Amino acid sequence: MCGIVAYLGSKDAYPILINGLYKLEYRGYDSAGVALIDNKLSVYKTKGKVSKLDKFVEDKNTNGFIGIAHTRWATHGEPNKENAHPHYSMNKKIAIIHNGIIENYPTLKEELKGRGYRFDSETDTEVLANLIEDVMHNESCSLQDAVLIALNQVVGAYALVVISEEEPDMLIAARKGSPMVIGIGDDDYYIASDATPIIEYTKNVVYMNDEEIAILKKGQPLKIKTIANQDKTPYVQELEFNLNTLEKGGYEHFMLKEIYEQPSSIRDSLRGRLRAKEGVVSLGGIVDFEQKIVHANKIIMIACGTSWHACLVGEYLFEDLARIPVEVEYASEFRYRNPIITENDVVIAVSQSGETADTLAAIDLAKEKGATVLGVCNVVGSSISRATHAGSYTHAGPEIGVASTKAFTAQVTVLTMMALRMAQLKGTIPTSRFMQILHEMEAIPDKVEEVLNDGGVAQMIAEKYKDATNFLYLGRGYNFPVALEGALKLKEISYIHAEGYPAAEMKHGPIALIDKNMPVVFIATNNVIYEKVVSNIQEVKARNGKVIAIVTKGDKVVRGLADYVIEIPETEDMLVPLLASIPLQKLAYYIAVMRGCNVDQPRNLAKSVTVE
Ligand code: AGP
Ligand code: GLU
Repeated sequence: MCGIVAYLGSKDAYPILINGLYKLEYRGYDSAGVALIDNKLSVYKTKGKVSKLDKFVEDKNTNGFIGIAHTRWATHGEPNKENAHPHYSMNKKIAIIHNGIIENYPTLKEELKGRGYRFDSETDTEVLANLIEDVMHNESCSLQDAVLIALNQVVGAYALVVISEEEPDMLIAARKGSPMVIGIGDDDYYIASDATPIIEYTKNVVYMNDEEIAILKKGQPLKIKTIANQDKTPYVQELEFNLNTLEKGGYEHFMLKEIYEQPSSIRDSLRGRLRAKEGVVSLGGIVDFEQKIVHANKIIMIACGTSWHACLVGEYLFEDLARIPVEVEYASEFRYRNPIITENDVVIAVSQSGETADTLAAIDLAKEKGATVLGVCNVVGSSISRATHAGSYTHAGPEIGVASTKAFTAQVTVLTMMALRMAQLKGTIPTSRFMQILHEMEAIPDKVEEVLNDGGVAQMIAEKYKDATNFLYLGRGYNFPVALEGALKLKEISYIHAEGYPAAEMKHGPIALIDKNMPVVFIATNNVIYEKVVSNIQEVKARNGKVIAIVTKGDKVVRGLADYVIEIPETEDMLVPLLASIPLQKLAYYIAVMRGCNVDQPRNLAKSVTVE
């Protein structure tokens, strides 16, 4: 994780760096720091959030036209001031910020200690700072050559930026496995972990590739080379999103804004891809691979967290509609268990950030084994979108809240379109039924709007149960992944223990937990197993459990049994996750707010998990 910002040019660096850090705080927020060169190189750091750093430097010299800054999510060494970045090298002439993990740091550290280097922190990063100093000293070389030589000794992942007091008009950046974007202004350069800190200054960006080093020197064109020292031509792209989408737009939290954006984010996912009247569903990005998917032996879907829940919905969709066998795997498990994959398998990797380390590693493994690998990512130009053979973007727009909301519904939207297209090509669905589903899909954004206008029910239920210590979420079929996702939302932002379970499995264990203090959330919409779920609700009521149920509009039976109900409009069973997940997002949101939790930046979490 970690957020990185750097600046070099003719403006004051500090305001650009600190504003950039605020925008990247979603990536980590246990400590923060900044390094500036004003004749001399100075590093300021604090434990805690970016605002603490901002306060801390109030009486310090923050002059300088060059600087680097970092907001940390610790991997090596506890979150304290010493371990915060930037890290000086021992002679205090070099400073470095780093996102990732230097895996062979213990060996390098021992070697450097043997050569007299001292260390102030427990981080892997500081080892790199001293290694660069050591190379410069031994080889009498420039900063850029020293970084190149040092990186050739490093095993691990990094996005890093280095500055040196001795070459005060230069930034050296490098990337392997962690994201990094360079913004090119009129007479200045910006670097950041994603484009959000850059967009207000320039739209011209270069996304760095793995194993590349960038040399940014004042008044000179950007130079990129590989760590094998081969020159590369920078590929300059124009950024498309606008600044307004990055602000809270009047909402108290990004998460709430993102929940309310879902009618439009789902519309954006569907735009140009689904035309119900003409009977067309088509995903441009994967057109060349359609036959490969249709004839796949099996589809393996890999992801983590919420994206993994979207894959579970995808599994039901592909099997139901296109009759292609699907396996859903946690990327972190898949990568270490010698999975059986052949050239006839298609892997679909799903990720909001497109930077999740485990998912990236699983993709590499699948590619090694010869499988076709497709991506479903939200962040354009992200590592996963580039590592896959092809893919479809979810187009949900930037998601800033750590808890994923609109990205989930956009992922489900894209997977639904994929499954429908495969069913059409494979002939596993009658045309009339296909048309019916397309029409229903087109109506989803309006129905999401309807779900959002619940007249305050979610808030009222949140008030009632905000002090509960446990929650159970139950659903069957398409509603089982919805239950898992509802439970994850609640635990990650409110810190209440919550479990999602297939409703019928309750009697094989979790039923023992039920008493008058246990709220149980049922997703009990109209479908072929509705009666079975009603029986499960009765089993909970018989044990004095409290039932909150998501039901189809007009439902009477569950209303008669449950303590509280939230209605959602009628739709196709396979599209219910797109509606039913929304009241659960709202419930989690309001409970967390009422408990005084930091909704957008919950403790211990980070938006992109770029470490194993
Ligand atoms: C979602 O609310 C979580 N914060 C988390 O589980 C997330 O979905 C997971 O880390 C995967 O991220 P990705 O979609 O960016 O790969
Ligand atoms: N390994 C570095 C540290 O612990 C960077 C962490 C990260 O990128 O998450 O400080």
